[in-house]
Amino acid sequence: MGTRIDFNNNLRLGVDPIDNQHEQLFRLAIGIGIHLNNDLKDCRSEIESSVLELESYISEHFGFEEAIMKKNGNPNLASHIMAHQRLTTSCAHLRKKIFDPSNQAPSEQAFELFEVLKNWLCDHIMKIDRIASSYMRQKPDGIKPRSPRISLEGRVLVEFSNKRGITGCLRNIGFNSLFLELPPPAPEWIVDSDEGLIHLIPFADKKPIPCQVIRVEPEKGIALILKDKLDMPFITALVRMEHRQS
Ligand SMILES: [Fe+2]
Repeated sequence: MGTRIDFNNNLRLGVDPIDNQHEQLFRLAIGIGIHLNNDLKDCRSEIESSVLELESYISEHFGFEEAIMKKNGNPNLASHIMAHQRLTTSCAHLRKKIFDPSNQAPSEQAFELFEVLKNWLCDHIMKIDRIASSYMRQKPDGIKPRSPRISLEGRVLVEFSNKRGITGCLRNIGFNSLFLELPPPAPEWIVDSDEGLIHLIPFADKKPIPCQVIRVEPEKGIALILKDKLDMPFITALVRMEHRQS
C-alpha cells in the first residue's frame, strides 16, 4: 500500500504561516498513512481521531487562508473557496464511511482519504495556492485562525441554570463554540448570557459540557460558547451519535 507523502521545498509558497500550516497538513496525512501500515483492527480509534484532527485542521487552515486572501483583495477568492469546499465535502463523506459501525473494512476509505489528500494537497498548493500566493504574502498580521469546525450533526439536551431544558440539533461544531438548531420560534425564556450544560442524549454517562448563550436567533436557534474546549473523545462520541441517528 503506497502511504508515502513528503512535504518538499517545491511546495513552499514563501508565506511562512501558510507554509507552516501546509506542512502540518502533510504531517497529519502522514499520521493516517502510518496507522494504515499497522493492523487497523488494533488502531481503529487512532485512525478515527487522526481523521477528525485532520478534518478540523483543514477547516482551520482554509479559514486562515481565505481570510488573508479576502483582506488582500484576491479577485479569484470565490473559486478558491469552492476548491476548498470540495475537499471539505470529500473528507466529511469519507469520514462518515470510516466511522460507520457497519463498515467492516474502514481501512479502504481511510486509504482513499489518504490518497485524496495526497493528490489534492500537492495539486492545490502547486497550482491554485501558488497563483494566489501574492495575495497571501501581504498583511497576514492580525488575522487569527478561526476555530476549527467539523461538519457533523448531533442531537443534544441543553439544561439551563433555571432548570429548564431544551433539545435540538447541533450544527457547525467547533472546539470553542456550537450552534444549536431549534424549531422556530426559539423559546423566549432563553436569553443572551444564560448558562447551561450540554448533554449528549444517548450517552448519559458522558460528562456534560458547560456553555453560555452568546446569541439567540429566533428563527434558527442559539449560538453557544463553550467554557471548556471540546476534546477529541467528545467529538468522536458526536460522530458515533450521528451514525446511530441516521
Ligand atoms: Fe488554498
